Amino acid sequence: MNQKGMTRMIKEDLENLRKKAEGELKETKDKQSLENLRIQYLGKKGELTAILKQMRNLPEKERPVIGQHANELRALIEKELTDRATELHEAETAQRLKREKIDVTLPGKRRVLGHRHPLSLELSEIKEIFIGMGFDIVSGPEVEYDYYNFEALNMPKDHPARDTQDTFYITDNILLRTQTSPVQVRTMEKQKPPIRIISPGRVYRSDAVDATHSPLFHQIEGLVVDKDITFSNLKGTLETIIKRMYGEDSVVRFRPHHFPFTEPSAEVDVQCFHCHGEGCRLCKGEGWIELLGCGMVHPKVLTNCGIDPEEYSGFAFGMGLERLVMRKYSIDDMRLFYENDVRFLNQF
Ligand code: DAH
Repeated sequence: MNQKGMTRMIKEDLENLRKKAEGELKETKDKQSLENLRIQYLGKKGELTAILKQMRNLPEKERPVIGQHANELRALIEKELTDRATELHEAETAQRLKREKIDVTLPGKRRVLGHRHPLSLELSEIKEIFIGMGFDIVSGPEVEYDYYNFEALNMPKDHPARDTQDTFYITDNILLRTQTSPVQVRTMEKQKPPIRIISPGRVYRSDAVDATHSPLFHQIEGLVVDKDITFSNLKGTLETIIKRMYGEDSVVRFRPHHFPFTEPSAEVDVQCFHCHGEGCRLCKGEGWIELLGCGMVHPKVLTNCGIDPEEYSGFAFGMGLERLVMRKYSIDDMRLFYENDVRFLNQF
């Protein structure tokens, strides 16, 4: 081939490469194929480089002209590469925006917030009332010694009152506590008067489940011991508390009763806040609702705990939490507390 032919051929090669590159670059769909093309055209072993290698066969004076052509083509391809990259990037962004589009006018999804169980709600309310009156909150073990649950509370092994509080025994001397009263003993053993505590917690009895019984329920125990504590203190304190719980116009009644660990003992009723004593479904026609048991701490119990009954006296009380809540909201089946049916729980 003569030199003229050579020049023409290189020109044609450059022109062909230009056409091919323009076509191929338009077709690219992603950054990777774009990069592959860059290497294919402009790389060290690329097509443009291959063409340029032939330039040394050209006459001296043709070289700058062809060289300029080649440089222009390189610049063109480079520009195409950048433009195409920008295009691809923009298309990708547009697509992502479309995909991730959110409609801010759509109504939001409200997160359903739960709330505390009615027993917990009532308990916190009661705790607040007692704390406001200077009581401390203490707790005791649910797995308890026979001694604390019965013996020290003046209920020796053969005491008939034990029959009403049968429970689950771990050994002859260890059981699931039937009442929160053992916390009285534990507190008096540890702490010298003045004592002013309440102790809420779980208690257990081997009762079959029905509308008013559960083998697990909750009590709140109260204990006040100091010099010169009298039955008037007991009445005044409990009346105040009951009025805080059920309203200032509540009418409270004390009935004589018997508990082995208090003497004298009483049960406390509140006049039915639904019918005001007339008799209705809530109070079962009685006009009164039984709330709790109480009494003056038995001298024997004080002695058992190392407190001299000649120097100190005290009163105690115990109430069932489930019962309080059932009365307050006219709930007639205790099982509702434990079944966790949200249709029930949502009402509080
Ligand atoms: N522990 C008693 C019960 O479970 C309730 C009770 C009554 C507690 C009188 C007391 C009290 O502290 O003084 O039936």
